[in-house]
Amino acid sequence: MQIRWNRSAPRAMFALAALGCGAAQAQDLAAAKKQFIASCGVCHAIEPGAPPRQGPNLLGVYGAKAANVEGFKYSPGLQQADWVWDGARLDAWLADPNAVIPDTVMIYRQADPARRALVIAFLKSIGKQD
Ligand code: HEC
Repeated sequence: MQIRWNRSAPRAMFALAALGCGAAQAQDLAAAKKQFIASCGVCHAIEPGAPPRQGPNLLGVYGAKAANVEGFKYSPGLQQADWVWDGARLDAWLADPNAVIPDTVMIYRQADPARRALVIAFLKSIGKQD
């Protein structure tokens, strides 16, 4: 019995997460936030009203138009971007910002798709609310 439980536990956790079970989701989000703070927190605040660091405050960036944070001085290229940040846009951006906007001043890349997915899940959870 013990062995059977151990084997099925990860699958059960996955099923719970897929169903949007509160506890599993909260755990996933905690991991996602941790990844965000570690990878992005030096340059991006997320607290409401917090001033920009090297980059703009990212609260609500998911679902918002690019280069839309008031008072932040974006690179000319990003200023002209005319898309809304969604999962696919963010994934390409985090994999290689320079490939998206050649003159961007965001000096960061994340080669690991799993880490990008975590960060994007977190941004979605604090995304634009309307
Ligand atoms: C070394 C500092 C630095 C790190 C680390 C960094 N960024 Fe940035 N980020 C910037 C800067 C600077 C800009 C503005 C780029 C421009 O104007 O071209 C920016 C812009 C952005 C934008 C566009 C914002 C908008 O208003 O359109 C997003 C989205 C973003 N970063 C996400 C992230 C995420 C997610 C991470 C972590 C995985 C991250 N960044 C890590 C500095 C950083």
